[in-house]
Amino acid sequence: MKARIAGTGSYAPTRVLTNADLERMVATSDEWIRERTGIRERRIAATGEACSDLAVQAGRRALTAAGVAATDLDMILVATCTGDFPLPATACLVQHQLGATKAGACDLSAACCGFVYALSVADAYIKTGMRHVLVIGSEVMSAITDWTDRNTCVLFGDGAGAAVLSASDGERGILSTDLRSDGTLCELIMVPGGGSRTPPSEKVITERLHNIKMKGNETFKVAVRTLEEIARTTLSSNHFRVEDLDLYVPHQANVRILRAVMERLGLPIEKVLLNLDRYGNTSAASIPIALDEAVREGRIKDGSLVMLGAFGAGLTWASAMIRW
Ligand code: UT7
Repeated sequence: MKARIAGTGSYAPTRVLTNADLERMVATSDEWIRERTGIRERRIAATGEACSDLAVQAGRRALTAAGVAATDLDMILVATCTGDFPLPATACLVQHQLGATKAGACDLSAACCGFVYALSVADAYIKTGMRHVLVIGSEVMSAITDWTDRNTCVLFGDGAGAAVLSASDGERGILSTDLRSDGTLCELIMVPGGGSRTPPSEKVITERLHNIKMKGNETFKVAVRTLEEIARTTLSSNHFRVEDLDLYVPHQANVRILRAVMERLGLPIEKVLLNLDRYGNTSAASIPIALDEAVREGRIKDGSLVMLGAFGAGLTWASAMIRW
């Protein structure tokens, strides 16, 4: 039994925040942002628009593409680090909005790797008897961004992407997933306040401890190394070579990271999906948004061999090999 991706969907808020807009907010320039990151613009959720709102839109589109009714879902997994509330899980809000009356629902926290981690969970559910699982990556990063910190505020954006996984007897589906983590590097990307270690307080707000902090330069080096390593592991465990891939869909954090990985792997740019110029880093949403674009643009077709690669806070890194 394989977990086949039966349909994808995505949603991005309508408000566009350009590099020129950011020039008016912090000491930065369009040129710096484009050259150092590859980002030109990102989407920002409207006031009152939360993680589940984005997730529901993406989820509905994925269900339509798959031809699966919400009432047929066995499980909903939402990968996010910016859920509507600390409690309950955002997936339960999505379950209600979609009318998925027979589905279980929970969130998965693995930052930018969240979607790939959630795919691996869905794959295991399907191999042990579930029929249809909706996996969503949804983020409102603008809610945890420090808009006075030029080191981070130019990087992130909001959005959601989703995939319906359905049980299938054929050769198509998720061939393998690889998951890794190294908690010794937990301080490289962190929201230090607002959790049980430092609960919400005036000090948390004043010192902006509820906002994301990142040691970008150190993260950059680990990202290049781990993305290359895990891609090689996934290729070799499936007995594939780089040339066999039709498309590599990586987490969209920084075009320089991805260029370095492509060079190390010998992957030509035509085989890599890059859309971070328009969305920035949308954390757990970045890979499913990119996947949905690739499907809709015809870059992924039935039978395509697709590899996913992600890294992020934790640190975590992960990959998946899919026969579409
Ligand atoms: O998805 C989660 C995983 N996260 C990532 O993948 C992020 C990985 N890291 C990165 O993408 C890059 O490290 C950044 C884009 C965050 C930064 O690029 P960098 O080439 O590593 O720059 P840097 O941090 O070494 O900073 C270089 C200079 C510094 O100035 P000085 O000290 O050389 O005078 C920064 O203060 O660039 C300065 N700088 C900026 N200048 C203009 C940092 N941010 C900005 C900015 N505009 N927005």
